[in-house]
Amino acid sequence: MEGKLKDGFIADLKSRCSITQIASKYLELTKRGRTFWARCPFHYEKTPSFSIDEYEGYYHCFGCGESGDVISFIKKMEGLSFMEAIEYLSKMVGMEVQFESQADMATIAKQNKQKKQVLKALYDVKELYKQQLYEKTAIKAQQYIKDRKMNKTSLDNFEIGYSPNFKFIYNKLKTLGYEDETLLNAGIISESKGSYYDAIAERLVFPIYNTYGEVIGFSGRILDSTLDVAKYKNTRQTIVFDKSKAIFGLKQVVDAKRVQRFDYLILAEGQIDVIMLHQFGFRNAVATQGTALTEQHASILKKVCDTIYVCYDGDSAGQKATYRALDILQNANLKVRIINIPNGQDPDEFLKKFGAEEFQKLIDNAEEVLDYKLRTLAQNSNMSSNESRLEFLKKAIELIKNLPTLAEADVYVAPIAKYANVANNVVRESLVNSMSSLNTKKTKVVDSSINEQNFRDAYQKADKIILASLLHKKPYIIDNDNLSFVNTNYQRLYTLMKSKKENGVEFKISDLYDIFNFEEDKDIAELVNYKFLNDEDKDKLEYLNSLNVNKIRSLEIEIKDLETLYKNATDLSKKTELLNKIGNLSKELAQIKFTF
Ligand code: UTP
Ligand code: MN
Repeated sequence: MEGKLKDGFIADLKSRCSITQIASKYLELTKRGRTFWARCPFHYEKTPSFSIDEYEGYYHCFGCGESGDVISFIKKMEGLSFMEAIEYLSKMVGMEVQFESQADMATIAKQNKQKKQVLKALYDVKELYKQQLYEKTAIKAQQYIKDRKMNKTSLDNFEIGYSPNFKFIYNKLKTLGYEDETLLNAGIISESKGSYYDAIAERLVFPIYNTYGEVIGFSGRILDSTLDVAKYKNTRQTIVFDKSKAIFGLKQVVDAKRVQRFDYLILAEGQIDVIMLHQFGFRNAVATQGTALTEQHASILKKVCDTIYVCYDGDSAGQKATYRALDILQNANLKVRIINIPNGQDPDEFLKKFGAEEFQKLIDNAEEVLDYKLRTLAQNSNMSSNESRLEFLKKAIELIKNLPTLAEADVYVAPIAKYANVANNVVRESLVNSMSSLNTKKTKVVDSSINEQNFRDAYQKADKIILASLLHKKPYIIDNDNLSFVNTNYQRLYTLMKSKKENGVEFKISDLYDIFNFEEDKDIAELVNYKFLNDEDKDKLEYLNSLNVNKIRSLEIEIKDLETLYKNATDLSKKTELLNKIGNLSKELAQIKFTF
């Protein structure tokens, strides 16, 4: 959705939506003080830790950390996109959505209509395929399901279906009144020599969903593996299906997450692996859909869980894919481990042979990334040749030398030595050499920055306390219009609050969600969730101290700037003037530091 909403429309809409009234349609709310409480709809819990501040217009869950305004609430509860949520709420309160330009209005209306038709078609197709699986004509598919030991719960949970031939869906949907254009847009049919046929045919069909739980496409598996056609056929790229974002099993994981807590997700390679993992009780399994893992996949996964256990096939292709996935996942700041399945099997094969308990053991033995990399590196090296043994040692040291301390790297010395069949000291010596060539510089930098870091932390903490107090409108805050902040998000927030105040408009916490992206702007999320000491006097003291710390930093910066000007100035009267200023500010600084 590209259209730009009219300036101020969102604020207007939000001011007319009561977040508690809307939330009460979904949740049982209890009022305590000014806050409403409920059991969190976004994670499973027995006692309420989901709080709503009606006046400030936002919610926050102390259990899972979710927070947002009325728009994000509706987005999540109804599985809507941002624009759809805007539409939904506008309708609810009887407002017309206002766009910047008429052209935008028209394009968006058209896109919306197209998307809606496509999603509806895909939904209908899923239902039709599902029914087909239980028809007499589906004997082969039913036999296939038996052979692969998928049970009824799995069929239902994953809404598995069957596409009997190349004409079924096209004909059926035409009788339901669908236009060819919609079916082409949805990737349901393909064109050949002027006629249309089903894009996926004579295959077992797995629906693929987006994060809102809508069907966006399908993957079809051939029943007879001896046929010379692709084993899986996936829906082509469409306005709703993008394989670099699609994650198989995510819908089922999110569903399960409402009743069960997951500390990690299992990332498998194939969809039947995912289905069997769920069937054997591992309801936290997902896979990418017909493509290698992308950064976009990683960032979607991160919203569901911060730890991923990679469980790719044990063959060499799987190992290559694992290496790639590890880098992508680690770059996205996810915690990662690797589940190793013996003898090149995939999870599906392993589970059927050995069962859930044995698979759980594999999970319990999941490897850390460095252990995995060193072990596979060793396995792929020919240790009987001196040359490749040295090559191995070099690469192994390369892997560990960037660890923050020698102590941490030293942990890997013994295993590396064992792989290469050399004495520990041989490895340690070359580790120390390669670390020191890099670290004599590095350590120094670290040393001097430790102090600096401490200072920065103190300043940052003070700024956090000041802004949290302002944000949560503590009774002890004092009028102070000339603070400044080094953190750009903080400065942005402060400027915004100031300008609202100057215009006589009250600032509300819900305003934050229009300006900041809470996934990325963690510093702002922290302010919203700031935990005060809950002792008015102590909180007040902390606040007043923080104002002083902020002032000290501002003065220090100002003095430093003036000193630079002084050094560069050539004009004598200018120099005197600067010197006076520096003197005055220094006095002020000394005074604050003294009383502080
Ligand atoms: P695999 O070839 O490892 O298949 O492909 P699998 O998962 O073990 O499948 P089964 O057990 O033989 O049914 C892994 C994944 O790669 C995608 C599919 O998503 C598959 O699950 N793939 C594979 C395709 O998209 N197209 C293909 O032709 C093959
Ligand atoms: Mn398989």
